[in-house]
Amino acid sequence: MGKVLVMEHPLIQHKVGIIRRKEVGSKDFREIISEIAMYMCYEATRDLKLQDVEIETPICKTTVKELAGKKLAVVPILRAGLGMVEGMLTMIPAAKVGHIGLYRDPDTLEPVEYYCKLPADCGEREVFVVDPMLATGGSCVAAIQMLKDKGVKNIRFMCIIAAPEGVKKLQEAHPDVDVYIGALDEKLNDHGYIVPGLGDAGDRIFGTK
Ligand code: PRP
Ligand code: URA
Repeated sequence: MGKVLVMEHPLIQHKVGIIRRKEVGSKDFREIISEIAMYMCYEATRDLKLQDVEIETPICKTTVKELAGKKLAVVPILRAGLGMVEGMLTMIPAAKVGHIGLYRDPDTLEPVEYYCKLPADCGEREVFVVDPMLATGGSCVAAIQMLKDKGVKNIRFMCIIAAPEGVKKLQEAHPDVDVYIGALDEKLNDHGYIVPGLGDAGDRIFGTK
């Protein structure tokens, strides 16, 4: 079973507390989402493999560590996942970026696919799927299935706020995927929104409501 890690770091908790506030406008909301993604990326990459490499300093030869193993990719779920890409790339600038377009049908809450463009070698990469919100779990379960259908084997999922219902659904559908969560909330309401949550992440990032 993949691990589920709720990030306890005080800087993450503090910033999540800010973006929950309804008076926070799009500019600040976007900036803080990006900062949270950066801190979460730092925590979620703690277990990346290192290898020894011989180098020469201006003084002498020595052995240093460098990242080894699989190359990385970041795959935001459109639209709201876009808000986390810059923060991820600040930490792992060599990562390639794929995009998966999904939206939740407002009536059925089922994910509807409209776009998929991935790095050609994504099957050989460690892929971080990012989306600020994990609500019913429909969107991330579908996005991860799309990646698996294209041959991706190593997948991690990162979200800023999750509902317990979505975490359960994700773990049942994709038990091999590690899940990183900024804050685990109480429940979903009758419209599939996370309670207390922060409202519609896509609308708040892009100012569409
Ligand atoms: C939001 C959010 C997730 C999804 C979560 O996207 O960014 O992708 O809902 O809900 P779920 O876990 O119940 O599937 P939305 O469908 O509103 O699209 P948007 O990002 O374009 O606003
Ligand atoms: N999508 C969002 O953006 N917010 C929620 O609370 C649920 C789904």
